[in-house]
Amino acid sequence: MTDSAPSRRKMRLGMIGIGVGGAEILRAIAAMDNIDVVAGADVVPETLVRFKERFPGSKTYLTAEELCRDPNVEAVWISSPNRFHAEHTILAATHGKHIVVEKPMAISLAQAAQMVEAAEKHGVKLLAGHTRAFTTPIRAMRKIIESGTYGQLRALNIISYSDWMLRPRTADELDINQGGGIPYRQGPHQVDTVRLLGGGLVRSVRAQTGDWMKERSIPGYYTAFMEFENGMPANITHNGYGYFVGAELVPWGDDKHIYTAQQRGNIRKALRAGTRNETGEKQEIRIGGAREKEYFYEDDNTPWTPEDMGFAVASLDRADLRQSKFGVYVHDDEGKHDVSVVADGEGGMVQRRAELEELYNSIVHGAPLWHDGRWGMATLEVCLAIMESGKQRKEIMLHHQVPVPAAYDAEMPVPKV
Ligand SMILES: NC(=O)c1ccc[n+]([C@@H]2O[C@H](COP(=O)([O-])OP(=O)(O)OC[C@H]3O[C@@H](n4cnc5c(N)ncnc54)[C@H](O)[C@@H]3O)[C@@H](O)[C@H]2O)c1
Repeated sequence: MTDSAPSRRKMRLGMIGIGVGGAEILRAIAAMDNIDVVAGADVVPETLVRFKERFPGSKTYLTAEELCRDPNVEAVWISSPNRFHAEHTILAATHGKHIVVEKPMAISLAQAAQMVEAAEKHGVKLLAGHTRAFTTPIRAMRKIIESGTYGQLRALNIISYSDWMLRPRTADELDINQGGGIPYRQGPHQVDTVRLLGGGLVRSVRAQTGDWMKERSIPGYYTAFMEFENGMPANITHNGYGYFVGAELVPWGDDKHIYTAQQRGNIRKALRAGTRNETGEKQEIRIGGAREKEYFYEDDNTPWTPEDMGFAVASLDRADLRQSKFGVYVHDDEGKHDVSVVADGEGGMVQRRAELEELYNSIVHGAPLWHDGRWGMATLEVCLAIMESGKQRKEIMLHHQVPVPAAYDAEMPVPKV
């Protein structure tokens, strides 16, 4: 990437679906000098008022279609509910807009294939984005693996315990047929990460999902065993019920994820009693809401903790790698080294900009787009297979996997271990 002034022109971005995920990424976008937020679309008028307050020069629309017709919009960030990802992506592509679509890319493989086709037909870039595989420590782990210093990659494990199921939810999020539940919503983070570290090509999945909270009948749990084409095993697990949260596993973490243990208990009790106002609570954490800052305005020096994506361990012939506070722990024959890869002020939200930098470089500098529609479709295939395997109680073979391109992250130096 070049930083010379003339080529650092601004990309004009519109956001479709300005919800909780939207608020999170807008915080990261607002600090980017190469993105102009020029438009926003949402079906909630109050959200549009708040968006306009945050981005006074922008235009606001009540429909995705109107935003896509705005000639000033060059690219869109789609963070509408999962059931609209395909429709909104195809709409944007038809109007010649480049696209970042939130995870999960879609809720079926047929939809994902149509999205890829639409982007190709209309000559626009489609990036399947916003998964934790884009974070610097994970990319650094991949560079260490690829360097061959520690021999071959032998196994991957990612485990997450989060309070995802206790966060305020809309009706569609509580319906698996509309893309609700942990495998659709959290699966892409772990699946993208194991695919990135393991080379991309998953051969098969055997998994089981769990749904044991009466008040929320969507899967709040999955565990999956994947075998890569080269025989390497990977295990991923996410438990979103929030009795125990993963942040407790590191000395600098505590029992708080989004909520403290006390708050989590109170939420469960309110859900059981039917007294929780989820709609109001959700709007409070969207853009300009009373609790938006509490949710998203983390400090850019906030250390990593095993939050939603969980903690990942890569086992090689002669070392284990895992995330540290600001980088990667390498456990080798000399002991444990903490390889710092996140510079001061480049933690948290700063790393959330990676997709937009990738899209920007692709549009402005003609750089290759790595996490393209086919990559996203392969990740979605694994997430769908997790649910299908659980249902059928058998191993599911995969047919849409794509490899990590050889030149991926070529400019990133191999961290010094
Ligand atoms: N990558 C991440 O870390 C992350 C975090 C949160 C959410 N997300 C993703 O963001 C998406 C939305 O989830 P959320 O938690 O923000 O939910 P949300 O309900 O807060 O956001 C959805 C927004 O879209 C709006 N909307 C609904 N129908 C629309 C339509 N037809 N056209 C335009 N806007 C419409 C809603 O009013 C709402 O503001 C999901 O795909 C989710 O996976 C990603």
